[in-house]
Amino acid sequence: MQRRDFIKSTCVACFGVLGAGSLLSSLQSCAPLPLLKGEAENGIMTIPLSSFTPEQHLLIVRNSKLDHDILLVKKTDGSFNALYMQCTHQNQPLNASKSGLFCSAHGSSFNLDGQVTQEPATTPLRKFKTEADTNSVKIFLSQNP
Ligand code: FES
Repeated sequence: MQRRDFIKSTCVACFGVLGAGSLLSSLQSCAPLPLLKGEAENGIMTIPLSSFTPEQHLLIVRNSKLDHDILLVKKTDGSFNALYMQCTHQNQPLNASKSGLFCSAHGSSFNLDGQVTQEPATTPLRKFKTEADTNSVKIFLSQNP
């Protein structure tokens, strides 16, 4: 094999591996988040901590009494954010991913702490109070933190 052919085939192989890796990484970040459906007892939803893994720190929680889902975020310090997935611009539903929440209506976006990262929304997302113990995290649907 000529030197030129070797370099050419090596670069193509590297590009293929790097490209596949980037594509895989992109696809994983676009993968749908796990959805957990449940009902509340006395206005409190209880989510087992076993729903989370070291790789999976986001969970979409659905309750039939709410118009929109809740994005439950397990933070690195072990505390939780329970973010109501309703855009604060004009109340449209939000899409969630590992990088944050996005509104397809007019382009607002929010970080995993509920803060606005892209207008036109200017108000942070509604947060529900949470309380965790060794086995579960409770979401208080009628209370803000
Ligand atoms: S309703 Fe979400 S940006 Fe307008």
